Amino acid sequence: MNKNFFSGRVLSGVQPTGGLHLGNYLGAIKNFVPLQEKFQSLFCVVDLHAITVWQDPKDLIANKCEVAAAFIASGIDPKKSIIFNQSQVPEHTQLAWVLNCIARMGWLNRMTQFKDKAGKNKEKVSVGLYTYPILMASDIMIYKATHVPVGEDQKQHLELTRDIVQKFNNDFKKEVFPMPEPIIMKSAARIMSLRDGTKKMSKSDISEYSRIMLTDNNDEIAKKIKKAKTDAMPLPENIEELENMPEAKNLLTIYSACENKNFDEVFLKYQNRNFSDLKEDLIEVVINKLSPIREEMIKLLDNHDYLQGILDSGSLDAQKIAKKVLKEVYDVTGLNSVS
Ligand code: TYM
Repeated sequence: MNKNFFSGRVLSGVQPTGGLHLGNYLGAIKNFVPLQEKFQSLFCVVDLHAITVWQDPKDLIANKCEVAAAFIASGIDPKKSIIFNQSQVPEHTQLAWVLNCIARMGWLNRMTQFKDKAGKNKEKVSVGLYTYPILMASDIMIYKATHVPVGEDQKQHLELTRDIVQKFNNDFKKEVFPMPEPIIMKSAARIMSLRDGTKKMSKSDISEYSRIMLTDNNDEIAKKIKKAKTDAMPLPENIEELENMPEAKNLLTIYSACENKNFDEVFLKYQNRNFSDLKEDLIEVVINKLSPIREEMIKLLDNHDYLQGILDSGSLDAQKIAKKVLKEVYDVTGLNSVS
């Protein structure tokens, strides 16, 4: 391990479900990059989470490569970080079973993401969708991760993970697991839909105009930003007024996150100005940020064997850590044989 690393370990995961959008990038992946300089870091393509809703097997394989390509194109260096595939490290699911027996039904029943995803269809969704947060806790705990960079929508899952860590350590009277800290970048914790500033930007929105994908070309980016919902009135004089203008706030947030600028500073540049000015500049800012990533992704996706090689060797490296932690868990829980 690099001697200059801080103590602790970073882990995060991204689902390979039909492409990544600007929210995934600004809320999560962009923030992974500096962490790999400070901590031993693992970034996981969470295919087992993806199959909690139906995935066409051929699409799933392609989508896993796309997430790996997005990681690398965004600046995650496979020589510094472990990039790997969740399903190839079976210790995740082995620990998940133990954690199923630690977590309480009442804790899971509070998960708002399950309620949102299941909607009125609760009886018909997979059991996996319900127990999804326990597998996520296992992803984190199987590496004894201390820092977990995520967007705000994952905060509740992180709180559940912390509850599971605490109960596990208490039940077995041993500090087996460290308490993982979420790292949520306030500046881009929740990127909203371009069609409705009160809804999160998401892959599942029926309108393609609601999100900018990392693979969108410059024309598509420009078209989507031009069509983004805004008010007829100019941007306000006072920053407080933005609280009632979710679309304006979202566009300014995207601008400041892409440019790594302070939100208030960006607001001052556009106060009292027309939305068309902001949109014109935002198109340039988003294209500047995303086009090098897209071009690198296209190159990488052309080299499937390289991406598969990264995921395969990353999975072996991840498994070395996971095996040791699982052994410790089996030891303290009495699941290992005595000899
Ligand atoms: P997923 O695949 O839905 O999203 C990947 C990451 O992107 C963030 N994100 C957003 N951030 C800001 N604005 C948005 N509109 C937006 N949409 C998505 C998510 O918060 C996430 O950080 N359960 C996780 C994957 C996971 C995981 C883990 C994460 C599985 N195991 C262990 C951390 C640690 C998920 O579905 O993310």
